[in-house]
Amino acid sequence: MDIFDKVVNNMGALGQFADVGYGYYFFPKLEGEISNHMKFRGQDMLVWSLNNYLGLANHPEVRQADAEAAAKYGMGSPMGARMMSGQTVHHEQLEQELASFEHKEAAYLLNFGYMGMISIIDSLVDRHDVVVYDSEAHACILDGLRMILSKRFVYPHNDMEKFETQLKRARKLADQTGGGILVITEGVYGMAGDCGNLRGILQLKEKYGFRLLIDDAHGFGTMGETGAGTSQDQDVMDQVDVYFGTFAKAMAGIGAFVASEKRIVKSLAFNMRSQIYAKSLPMPMVIGSLKRLELIRNKPELKDKLWTIVSALQAGLKSNGFDLGKTQSPVTPVYLKGGVGEGTQIVADLRKNYGIFCSLVSYPVVPKGVLMLRLIPTAAHTLADVEYTIKAFSEVKEKLDAGKYSSGIVPPVADKY
Ligand SMILES: Cc1ncc(COP(=O)(O)O)c(C=O)c1O
Repeated sequence: MDIFDKVVNNMGALGQFADVGYGYYFFPKLEGEISNHMKFRGQDMLVWSLNNYLGLANHPEVRQADAEAAAKYGMGSPMGARMMSGQTVHHEQLEQELASFEHKEAAYLLNFGYMGMISIIDSLVDRHDVVVYDSEAHACILDGLRMILSKRFVYPHNDMEKFETQLKRARKLADQTGGGILVITEGVYGMAGDCGNLRGILQLKEKYGFRLLIDDAHGFGTMGETGAGTSQDQDVMDQVDVYFGTFAKAMAGIGAFVASEKRIVKSLAFNMRSQIYAKSLPMPMVIGSLKRLELIRNKPELKDKLWTIVSALQAGLKSNGFDLGKTQSPVTPVYLKGGVGEGTQIVADLRKNYGIFCSLVSYPVVPKGVLMLRLIPTAAHTLADVEYTIKAFSEVKEKLDAGKYSSGIVPPVADKY
């Protein structure tokens, strides 16, 4: 079998839809500056799909800092990996500021959150260690686990009883191998919006002796009193051993960081292969991130505005009979009953007739017969956006209940790949 024939014949779980919804459900092109209102296929859209939580993507001070740094240094600077020729005082300054923001001794920048997380896991554990992790962990955690030779025990999402069962097994095994235990959870779960039960997990820390790594991609900047994240929100910052945040969401940039004790960050810097063998974060992103962090620290009104929108949207949807599941964060999943066909029709109706752009999540991410429309409220939205959306969603739900979306998958409205 030729490799090319094989991959073309089996396009994979998502690839099988490549020619059905290309440019519409998959790879849609949102145009214009990042904001609550953008264009899609020439039509104005109220956008609820971007993790621009604090509205920083288009904040004038951020735009200016990014532009000035790009003009001064270019996008190519610095050249090379941190360890060889890519180190600058700006990278170090950002790390110090992130560490202090997270109440940790030290931090290290990662050129991509996804790759960074893989390397954090790879650097922390070896074949003698045991990893215990949540079943809904993000792909970057799962892919990190695929790399390592450690034994792994998964527990059902946030199920503290089963978590302890797995910890018992992990402790027994680690005692046999002479290894340690690493527990991994997310801060905010990006699909359902609920939070990792950090307090519950940490209650067992002393008994079983483990280190805790949290992926707080969606919590950084959005959760906790100062925006330091889910660990701050649950008042356990000191007990989280390794904190991971990305710049791709509340910071509206690219890149990420890991924060921990100084001795651990030192070890990570000398062992994370995705950072040692890849280029350093570009200077405009580093200098732009310093500006973003400054705004997060000095303009709490951005987070307040985010939460005003979150509260209005979530309370309004709930009082109109919508099921938002267990969300405890800005992530707002709206659960409906229906199959993929109905889901595509709802999305098409929302976009064409209401000018609302949001993401659809269907089986296998959610159970069969369940649809999730995922809304991401941000500080860039207005209460008028919220009111309009609740009204539109109520009309859509009425149509769904009346069986108006039952005629199958909306035919390809889009281009072919
Ligand atoms: C929970 C979680 N972890 C990690 C990542 C990866 O971060 P990055 O986009 O910086 O690679 C994401 C999202 O993109 C995420 O949602």
